[in-house]
Amino acid sequence: FDTANCEDFRPLYHFTPQYGWMNDPNGMVYKDGVYHLFYQYNPYGSMWGNMHWGHAISVDLVSWEHQPVAIAPDALGTIFSGSCVVDKDNTAGFGAGAIIAFYTSASERQVQSMAYSLDNGKTFKKYARNPILTSTQRDFRDPKVFWHDATDKWIMVLAVGQEMQFYSSANLKDWTYESSFGEGQGAHGGVWECPDLIELPIEGTELKKWVLICNINPGGPFGGSATQYFVGTFDGKTFVNESPKMTKWMDWGKDHYATVTWSNAPEGRHIALAWMSNWQYANNVPTTQYRSGNSVPRDLSLYTSDGETYLKSSPSRELLTLRGKGEKKRSFKVDRTYNMDKLLADNAGSYEIEMTIKNRNAEVIGFQLFNSKGEEVDIYYNLVEKKFAMDRTKSGIVSFSPDFPVVTFAPIEDNYEMKLRIFIDKSSIEIFGDDGRLAMTNLVFPSEPYNRISFYAKGGSYTVSSFQVYKLK
Ligand code: FRU
Repeated sequence: FDTANCEDFRPLYHFTPQYGWMNDPNGMVYKDGVYHLFYQYNPYGSMWGNMHWGHAISVDLVSWEHQPVAIAPDALGTIFSGSCVVDKDNTAGFGAGAIIAFYTSASERQVQSMAYSLDNGKTFKKYARNPILTSTQRDFRDPKVFWHDATDKWIMVLAVGQEMQFYSSANLKDWTYESSFGEGQGAHGGVWECPDLIELPIEGTELKKWVLICNINPGGPFGGSATQYFVGTFDGKTFVNESPKMTKWMDWGKDHYATVTWSNAPEGRHIALAWMSNWQYANNVPTTQYRSGNSVPRDLSLYTSDGETYLKSSPSRELLTLRGKGEKKRSFKVDRTYNMDKLLADNAGSYEIEMTIKNRNAEVIGFQLFNSKGEEVDIYYNLVEKKFAMDRTKSGIVSFSPDFPVVTFAPIEDNYEMKLRIFIDKSSIEIFGDDGRLAMTNLVFPSEPYNRISFYAKGGSYTVSSFQVYKLK
């Protein structure tokens, strides 16, 4: 349905529900040219509750068509997060090519259930013998199911308290416990949620490694929700983390949570999507008819630095199709400050900035994005402290939560390439450095678009060798 939507902060190119509350993206699956996005959805109001699976489809990952609710609560409970597979060989017996959804039925207990669709995701029928997996554990949820080639079996990863559990199955209905992972590994400041387990190529090699995505809340690096990950091996039974002493974060902002990838994506791609919010204040952000949007899609791969393997989140190539008119600036040198008074002639608050910084000998290399209301975001590299930071303490409306006005920062390496792509929408900023080796996602609520930029240098100088701004959509 159409609402008379005139919300200032509704993103233009990020997915949002038309009406009501959204949290985790879940059940994402690709079939016959269509990307399906399901999501945690409250159709009755714009705060968390009454969880359903909402549904939207896309052929290009950037424009979405709303669909009717896919899965609604029943006697077993509300419908929490999960995943979908395409059962091309009919292992479950619902029909070859069925899309099968796995989700948590949540009441006082959390149990796993399944539903299947024989019409390409339009409608789902619940399996008559739900639940398919139960436990005495209180937090037992968010099933991620995938086909494991090497053992010829389906694997289910479940978030259970502060660990991940692995189960296997031949028919998607009967599940055998294999192992648990978690104790003594990574961050444990909160409950583990929304797992994903994928095998990714290491850039520049023929090698692949397994990555266990583990969302955690609270306990993120800047408070509340965040996505950590582990790199290692998986043999169909056990996941072994190759660096048990390290905690690795996928995104260094405060609003990147419940990240999972598309099942069955074409060309062997692993495309991730995050919920762009944080449980600390998600229910209080200043929107009315709806709450929350998703991040832009990111293609995941691995790279190695100093013998350690890390995730790289590159903005998916489809985002290039959003680019409208671009403005290119000549190369310029910054030894104190350098101002641009107008980024775009008609700035609707949704644009991309792309820049490369060279010849640097400054200690701090930074720029402020600001508007005529005195609201600003400060983004900088501090090469003395070896970090990259974004300060949103003066970014606009920040007072709805004491946890909102913060500076988030990421560690950087010495030989870091300063190439940035910054995706700005009505109420978010996603920064990608060095083609996705650095990712930082933060919400902002400015009362008008930031349309000016002021570069500054401290303790030296640098050159902005290329600078482009594109209107998006
Ligand atoms: C993560 C989460 C999941 C759960 C869902 C409920 O944000 O807490 O663990 O399935 O949200 O909406």
